[in-house]
Amino acid sequence: MNEKKIVFSGVQPTGNLHLGNYLGALKNFVSLQKEMKCIYCVVDLHAITTFQKPSELENNVLETVATFLATGINPSKSIIFNQSAVSGHAELAWILNCVSRIGWLNRMTQFKDKAGSDKEKASVGLYIYPNLMAADILLYKASHVPVGADQKQHLELSRDIAQKFNNDFNCKDFFPLPEPLIPKNVSRVMSLRDGTKKMSKSEESDYSRINLKDSAEEIDKKIKKAKSDSEPIPESLKSLEKKHEAFNLISIYSELSKKSISKVLNEMSGKEYSFLKSKLSELLISEIIPVGKEIKRLLADRSHLKQVLQKGAQKANIIAEENLKNIREKVGLI
Ligand code: AMP
Ligand code: TRP
Repeated sequence: MNEKKIVFSGVQPTGNLHLGNYLGALKNFVSLQKEMKCIYCVVDLHAITTFQKPSELENNVLETVATFLATGINPSKSIIFNQSAVSGHAELAWILNCVSRIGWLNRMTQFKDKAGSDKEKASVGLYIYPNLMAADILLYKASHVPVGADQKQHLELSRDIAQKFNNDFNCKDFFPLPEPLIPKNVSRVMSLRDGTKKMSKSEESDYSRINLKDSAEEIDKKIKKAKSDSEPIPESLKSLEKKHEAFNLISIYSELSKKSISKVLNEMSGKEYSFLKSKLSELLISEIIPVGKEIKRLLADRSHLKQVLQKGAQKANIIAEENLKNIREKVGLI
């Protein structure tokens, strides 16, 4: 294990974790445990940048922890905790609010998407959310951050903030510039209903996503109903790339079957998409159903899940306080 390399990532507890979260982030979280010190955070302070019903938030936090455990994150190897339990996140976020620039935040495309047409009505928290994300990462001096492609811009901002802090306070290399770890083939799993939109928790139609708690029947039905293409499966990657929905289904199949896209096309070109769909359903069911079952089993013991969070928060807090001491000193805070 490389002790110098620290992995940090966060998932928002907003319910309905899905195949995009699984392939874009969680699977990577699990495999990184073998090589590096990993810290995985349920980012509840990020979730409340849009209104969350308090009664649902607690359930969603516990469900996210259950999902971490069910996918294979091991709390005796990795630190698992919820963000609000370590107050250093909010403290460093304030300091970084004073380092980050308004012009930088104005470029963030996720804010533009989430705030919609009436930006004046978005919370201030939603606007400065990327600064909190930078604080999450830098609080642990993390060197590597596994995320899906949608977080790339936020990661670049975190690097800019780290660099500006190091320059402003004359402490070269104090914060490492965090590297994004974005999966190559499935960095952006798309909606099953519209191949130009990413699969997301918030899209209205449940047919747009495979949830990790879906039953085998639901998975099968959603894949059968997924948009594909009226022409048979093409031979070349080039012609596939223009067909967003079909490309998405083949990319997911390629990832789950561990075969390259060109190998899949070799095997399937000329066939109808129903052929791909039945194979894809089978693979999804064998991968997702055990995870969903385990999530449900773990959710039956809420006190165990709370204990995992508490223990994790204690460990995270020790690292955070140590780093904050140095950060306060650099800034000149007594
Ligand atoms: P969120 O649920 O927005 O907190 O996302 C948690 C993690 O899942 C982040 O690393 C995201 O980049 C990743 N993620 C979310 N949606 C997708 C998607 N459709 N495809 C790939 N990765 C995703
Ligand atoms: N912004 C991320 C998302 O919406 C979640 C997140 C918060 C995160 N803090 C982070 C991811 C730090 C990686 C590192 O998915």
